[in-house]
Amino acid sequence: MAKKIAVLPGDGIGAEIVPPAVKVLKAAAGKYGHEFEFRWGLIGGAAYDETGHPLPQETLDLCRESDAILLGAVGGPRWDNLPVHLRPEAGALLPLRKQLGLYANLRPVKVFPQLADASSLKSELVSGLDIMVVRELTGGLYFGEKKKEEIPGGYRVVDTLVYTTDEIDRVARLAFALAEKRGGKLTSVDKANVLESSRHWREYVQGLAEEYPNVELEHMYVDNCAMQLVRAPKQFDVLVTENMFGDILTDLAAQLTGSIGMLPSASIGGEAALYEPIHGSAPDIAGKDLANPLATILSAAMMLRITFNMEEAAADIEQAVTAVLDKGYRTGDIMQPGMKQVGTKEMGELVLEHLSG
Ligand code: IPM
Ligand code: MG
Repeated sequence: MAKKIAVLPGDGIGAEIVPPAVKVLKAAAGKYGHEFEFRWGLIGGAAYDETGHPLPQETLDLCRESDAILLGAVGGPRWDNLPVHLRPEAGALLPLRKQLGLYANLRPVKVFPQLADASSLKSELVSGLDIMVVRELTGGLYFGEKKKEEIPGGYRVVDTLVYTTDEIDRVARLAFALAEKRGGKLTSVDKANVLESSRHWREYVQGLAEEYPNVELEHMYVDNCAMQLVRAPKQFDVLVTENMFGDILTDLAAQLTGSIGMLPSASIGGEAALYEPIHGSAPDIAGKDLANPLATILSAAMMLRITFNMEEAAADIEQAVTAVLDKGYRTGDIMQPGMKQVGTKEMGELVLEHLSG
């Protein structure tokens, strides 16, 4: 039976980077004898414009009925002044993650050898870098109680960072298991010197360590972690952390790879896994054929590997990306002297060509 993939391009460059990834999925399916059924849906500002809500019930149903979801990006200045619950980020992306129960966001930070010089760090610091960040995605500071109340002289504004033991348990176990399969090292990142939630997080994660004797566990404060990531990133293997810490650290870590336009992600643990590039909708370059589609194409490869267990097809897509980079093709964000600059569409076509060997 055909596997069902929901395709949600969203806003900005979403409409440009998702179609090439779908083409790559189709080609991989053809090559390896798999069958996918793609069903397109609206999300974000695009959905708001058409239906009055950034996450229409129809889209949520579509996601629930699918085996996996491929998402582009949401948001843009046009929708920034809407009431919070109608904005693409707070009204669509966050509720989608929450409603589908996608509590673990895997963000591999991998440096392609061809791009080691594209990083803003010295290439010897980043060449060969291969980190997996596990970002808790449905709790923490993003989802705790919020308030805005008027007081004399202005407002009192509140965001709260809430975790239950269960929420820490499931994401930490997932990170331990990943570390076991990878380099055997897990860094749990917190702010236990200040936050109650972090103190419990640290204590609980430490308690789990005895169940994973093959994993070396360390704890690190998030501010120190930010520093260590630019000082000596290769010390890390798997990182696990709170939602907001993970959001910030992965943008930082992305730059180690040369461009945020290279980083895919998988959000798992719930009904249907969601695959999306970690970058946003980049309204400034939208519609100009400038965006890098590789993060989305690599997200599609993660989908094949994680949701569909199609290791061969996933690896083929990744090797096609490598081959295209080897030949010197670059989008603007990873462009370097002597390389050949191509647009979004051409980059997509190049990956396709290098697939069908
Ligand atoms: C990300 C993004 C989102 C987040 C935004 C668009 C709400 O920055 O996926 O990292 O903060 O989670
Ligand atoms: Mg982010």
